[in-house]
Amino acid sequence: MLYLCHENRREEPTMDRTDTEVSLDIDGGIAVVTVDSPPVNALSQVVRAGLVNAFEAARRDPAVEAVVLVCAGKTFIAGADITEFGKPPQAPSLAEVQAAIEAMDRPVTAAIHGTALGGGLELALACHFRVAVPSAKLGLPEVKLGLLPGGGGTQRLPRLVGAARALEMILSGTPIGAAAAKAAGLIDAVLPDEDLRAGALAFARSIVAEDAPRNRTRDRTDWTDRDRGDETIFAAAEKAHGRKFRGTSQLGHVVAAVRGSLELPFEEGLALERKLFAELVASPQSAAMRHVFFAERQAGKVPGLKAGTPTLSVETVGVIGAGTMGGGIAMNFLNAGLPVTLVETTQAALDRGMATIRANYEGSVQRGRMSETDAAARLALLSGALDMEALAGCDLVVEAVFETMAVKQAVFSRLDAVAKPGAILATNTSYLDVDAIAALANWPEHVLGLHFFSPANVMKLLEVVRGAKTAPAVIATAMQLAKRIGKTAVVVGVCHGFVGNRMLAQRKLQADALLLEGAMPWDVDRVLTDFGLPMGPFAMSDLAGLDLGWSAETSKGETVREILCERGRRGQKTGAGFYDYDAARKATPSADVEALILEVSARDGYVRRSVSDQEILERCLYPMINEGAKILDEGIAARASDIDIVWIHGYGWPAYTGGPMYYADRLGLGTVLAGLRRYEATHGEAFHPAPLLERLVAEGRGFGDL
Ligand code: 3HC
Ligand code: NAI
Repeated sequence: MLYLCHENRREEPTMDRTDTEVSLDIDGGIAVVTVDSPPVNALSQVVRAGLVNAFEAARRDPAVEAVVLVCAGKTFIAGADITEFGKPPQAPSLAEVQAAIEAMDRPVTAAIHGTALGGGLELALACHFRVAVPSAKLGLPEVKLGLLPGGGGTQRLPRLVGAARALEMILSGTPIGAAAAKAAGLIDAVLPDEDLRAGALAFARSIVAEDAPRNRTRDRTDWTDRDRGDETIFAAAEKAHGRKFRGTSQLGHVVAAVRGSLELPFEEGLALERKLFAELVASPQSAAMRHVFFAERQAGKVPGLKAGTPTLSVETVGVIGAGTMGGGIAMNFLNAGLPVTLVETTQAALDRGMATIRANYEGSVQRGRMSETDAAARLALLSGALDMEALAGCDLVVEAVFETMAVKQAVFSRLDAVAKPGAILATNTSYLDVDAIAALANWPEHVLGLHFFSPANVMKLLEVVRGAKTAPAVIATAMQLAKRIGKTAVVVGVCHGFVGNRMLAQRKLQADALLLEGAMPWDVDRVLTDFGLPMGPFAMSDLAGLDLGWSAETSKGETVREILCERGRRGQKTGAGFYDYDAARKATPSADVEALILEVSARDGYVRRSVSDQEILERCLYPMINEGAKILDEGIAARASDIDIVWIHGYGWPAYTGGPMYYADRLGLGTVLAGLRRYEATHGEAFHPAPLLERLVAEGRGFGDL
């Protein structure tokens, strides 16, 4: 039964409450409206209707002196029900619920724990008072779904905290804590964590006793009067967030709506917000970002892993290799409060690695992102060693040594001898065969790949590589641990490059070929950054170092890359690569590189031609999508949406296109297939369509239908 609301005086409980989503009880003259709609109390139609009924019942009851809105479970209302977007709206709307609250002639207090997000916070904004426990988080994360707050958030929030603060909260989408919310004027009191209901009831009683003024947020004018006409507020917001919203109309829409809160009467501002929200909710960008929201959560559900699979305890971590990756990997665990032992081969390498970690934390302190105490606490958890013996007590060891099978195998043989029974042994290899590495361990069941992305303390993606023998408990532990260190984990199978790098290799092949056929590195990079990627393949190579996998001894000096390396142009670190770099690492196209490309192109017999932007885009993306199809067919990734998550969180693929596989579905797999066949005719095998792609086109289905 989905009964919406029942009235129930505490003194005489009569009804079973277990299957209601919104209930009302009267506690000493205070009406308590409780939302209980797991998992996150989202504002589904059922909840909205329940709320309207509950507030109406409270309004009709003359004995009610005040109302408290509270939520059961782990959180306050976490927003509108995202599954309802894109479907015909069902009454009552959120605005109608808010109207029911604002029509109350007695004070309404929202009592917040967990997260008050999106429509949840907007509902609280329509209440007369807001109280929260210290651990509560309050925010308007709609931009992350390609939207803007559509429940009056753009109109009420500026009236409470000022336009500048409101813009920052809306455009960042990042929630703030209770203390910050109190300081900003967003909430009226911070209450103790224990028994929020009792605290909120006491607060409501004090409001009644004091006969405190019940200002409706919508009627407040102090901030709007102050901010009106101050163009610097909007210029600052556009400057701070412009880049993030490339490719969408969100920034302009948010700014217009918040401007409306200053310049228009409340109802007109609401109408403007509604119109702008409706445009965004119908946009392909928002649909793609909603896909990403659910894809992220799907990725956490590992096929074949039974719910409740036991996990292993991980409280101490070892990291082998303190180079580019090892240091960043260590920081992830330190940040989560786990002690880390870092092992290197020489004191000099260890000192270098430790110094980099220290410098990273100092940088965070200097930029005001971390307190000195926090940085010191994290560094105190770090110790270094020159012998793997020091890892004997670790629950998890992550190896991040050179990408050479012989070195990795030597490390694993030794590790196997020193690690305690039951320890999880992970490799951060980018390409090597995890099963071949596991074969050297006494317990291959405890070996897996944990493939972090560079910079490892920043990039959100973690590819969890499941070997042929990796135990379910080890995978379950890795998934749990990923959450603990703030990563989005995707389980992948063993193959060369796993999901991300395997697809990237296809793009690199084409990007290099395009140089010889007629394009320049900056042409290719521009097309891909215009598409929404944070950087193109050549800028990315310069950042990573052109000499990754190159050595002077084995260099044949044939390709553009090899010749650049031989000339000392090895990327940003040498001040030159495909681009020239100034002291601030700003890239400019290089005449020398252009001349070299023309030379190699002529040497190899190419007749250079003008390559269109469309061709660059198709040549770079279609082979990636095609490889994605093969990865799916082979079961290396469980779902197309997992591949999307790999690309969004590992390589900065623009979320507003949903990831490569979602993008392909929207483009039409028939279009992709036709493109591949066209290029196969002129450029050969690299474009040979994957059987899965052909099958899906024949069946009229998409990757998302699998
Ligand atoms: N609508 C529908 N389902 C939701 C939801 C929502 N707003 N928020 C979470 N869920 C679902 C998830 O899909 C997941 O379902 P599953 O178990 O079937 O996969 C389940 O709730 C639990 O979610 P999480 O795994 O994310 O749980 P966490 O505890 O890790 O995180 C949370 C909880 C912080 C609330 C997180 O779920 C979250 O950030 N949710 C989205 C919040 C949001 O974006 N709100 C704004 C919505 S848009 C809006 O309100 C428009 C308004 O302005 C009109
Ligand atoms: P790096 O060369 O910067 O660091 C490797 C470190 O390992 C060096 O400091 C070296 O002294 C140390 N080392 C070598 N043998 C050792 C041993 N036996 N015991 C202890 N330390 C030893 O290499 P990087 O870039 O950090 O790569 C490490 C691993 O991470 C590789 O497998 C690589 O493929 C992978 N990886 C690299 C990424 C990148 O962008 N650099 C991204 C993701 C994975």
